Amino acid sequence: MSVVNEVARHYDLLIDEGNDPVLDSPELAAYMDGWDGAALLNALALDGTQDVLEIGVGTGRLALRVAPLSRSFTGIDISEKTIARAAEHLAGLAQVRLIRADFMAWETQARFHVIYSSLTFLHLADKPGAAQGVARLLAPGGRAVISLDKATDAILDYGTRRLTIHPDNPEAMAAHLRAAGLTILSVQETAQAHIITAVKGEDS
Ligand SMILES: C[S@@+](CC[C@H](N)C(=O)[O-])C[C@H]1O[C@@H](n2cnc3c(N)ncnc32)[C@H](O)[C@@H]1O
Repeated sequence: MSVVNEVARHYDLLIDEGNDPVLDSPELAAYMDGWDGAALLNALALDGTQDVLEIGVGTGRLALRVAPLSRSFTGIDISEKTIARAAEHLAGLAQVRLIRADFMAWETQARFHVIYSSLTFLHLADKPGAAQGVARLLAPGGRAVISLDKATDAILDYGTRRLTIHPDNPEAMAAHLRAAGLTILSVQETAQAHIITAVKGEDS
């Protein structure tokens, strides 16, 4: 099985196993905020006029907070069952569009004012390619906010299966984003992550 299919299968299985972060207890939801929460939401600087993309939308844990603040909201995810669950959770929001695809292979003419991602870049092996993909999809003047998990293990052990992951390093990712033409505004440290905010020049 290819690495990409292995990731999609893992997240499909999590849905089968009843794992849906939207349904987390308040305590678990607060723990998950350690990867993003208010720090990420503030960094998005949303004012209701922006077209927003979430890479690795999952079942909609963050999308439920972000989409109502967006002019349009696009969520992309590689797992069919995960994106189907997100569609259920986000059904009441007319501005939402959900796409099942591998972000690294996604071809679109669309451009976004804000692109964000949390707990997803650890699945992307090609870090420079991911940074270039973000930069390409940003509209001039657009903003990217990427939460990078602090975990450094290369294997996630779920007991019944093991998943290879690709840990991130905030300095390296900042360098990849710079090489892709973005300017780094900040790197914030949260309990579980580093959150990089970067912008694209108005004439890029
Ligand atoms: C840990 S979950 C995080 C979901 C959501 N961002 C959150 O924080 O609740 C990672 C998500 O990224 C998705 N994903 C992993 N690799 C991907 C890829 N190459 N393209 C699109 N989605 C991907 C997975 O299917 C999964 O839903």
